[in-house]
Amino acid sequence: MAVVRVYSIGHQIIRPSNCSAFLRVFRKYSLHKANAYRTHFGFEIVDEDVKSEKVYNVFEKVANSYDAMNDAMSFGIHRLWKDIFMQKLAPTRNTQLLDVAGGTGDIAFRFLRHVGQAESEDEASRASVTVCDINEAMLEVGRARARQRGMCIEWVQGDAEQLPLPDASYDAYSIAFGIRNVTHIDRAVQEAYRVLKPGGRFLCLEFSHVSNPALQWVYDQYSFQVIPVLGQLIAGQWKPYQYLVESIRQFPNQEDFKEIIESAGFRSVTYENLTFGVVAIHSGFKI
Ligand SMILES: C[S@@+](CC[C@H](N)C(=O)[O-])C[C@H]1O[C@@H](n2cnc3c(N)ncnc32)[C@H](O)[C@@H]1O
Repeated sequence: MAVVRVYSIGHQIIRPSNCSAFLRVFRKYSLHKANAYRTHFGFEIVDEDVKSEKVYNVFEKVANSYDAMNDAMSFGIHRLWKDIFMQKLAPTRNTQLLDVAGGTGDIAFRFLRHVGQAESEDEASRASVTVCDINEAMLEVGRARARQRGMCIEWVQGDAEQLPLPDASYDAYSIAFGIRNVTHIDRAVQEAYRVLKPGGRFLCLEFSHVSNPALQWVYDQYSFQVIPVLGQLIAGQWKPYQYLVESIRQFPNQEDFKEIIESAGFRSVTYENLTFGVVAIHSGFKI
C-alpha cells in the first residue's frame, strides 16, 4: 500500500512532491506569523510585547503635566468633548460605570457630577464608578484630584485587554482616548463585552479621521508642527507628543472601528463625529 505523506502549513495541505508550492506557502505563512507579532507604536513597527512597555513609559513621563497639556493642545475643547460624551452616556442614579484607561479621572468626575444632579431629595444615588488604568502614575494623579474634590471613586490598576474584574458586573463601560493605546483593540472590546451586564452599554471617545482633505491638511500641520513643540515647552517632553499624533493616524477609521465593536458581539452600534471627525463617539449595546 502506497503511503502519501502530506504536510499542513496553516490551513493548507501540501504534498512534498510539489516542493515549490511548499516553499511558497511556507514563506507566506512564516511572514504572516512574523507580522502577527509585530504592531505599530506611532509610526514605528515594534514587537507586540514592546509596545505596552513603550506606552507605559509615555504616560509615566507625562502623568503630572497630562491635564495641563490636554487644555493647551486642544484649547480646552477636550472638556466639551468629554461633556458631550457624558450627556450621551446619560447615566442614572443607579448606573455602575467602569471607566477603562481612565487616567487622571476626567470621565469619572463628570459621571459623579452627572448622577449627583440626578439625585432626588428622598432617594440617594446608588451609582458608582470604577476607574481602571494600566499606569500607576496616572492613577496616582487621579486619586489626588479625587481627594481634592471629595469624590469617591474605586481605582484599579489593570490592562484593558485583561481586566481584573468579574463577568457581567457593570451597566456601562466607557473608554476615552484610551483604546488607541492598547496593543490589541479587538481584545479590549471583547473584554468590555465580558464585564458588561446584559443590556449594558459600551461607549468610546477617541480621536478619529477627518474626511475633508482641506481640514485634514490644516489638522496635520497643527498636529505635526505644533503639538510636539507644545509638549516640549509645557511638559519638557517631545517624544510622547510625537507618539500621540502618530498613534491617532494609526487608529482605525470610524467605519472600521464600528466593525471591530460589532465583531465583539455588540448590537445597535453607531457613531457620532465631533469637530469634523477629529474625534468620534462609538456606542454599542450588549443585547
Ligand atoms: C490619553 S490617556 C486618557 C485618560 C483619560 N481617559 C482622559 O480622557 O483624560 C490614555 C490612558 O490610557 C491608559 N492605557 C494605555 N494602555 C492601557 C491598557 N492596555 N490598559 C489600560 N489602560 C491603558 C494610559 O495609562 C493612560 O492613562
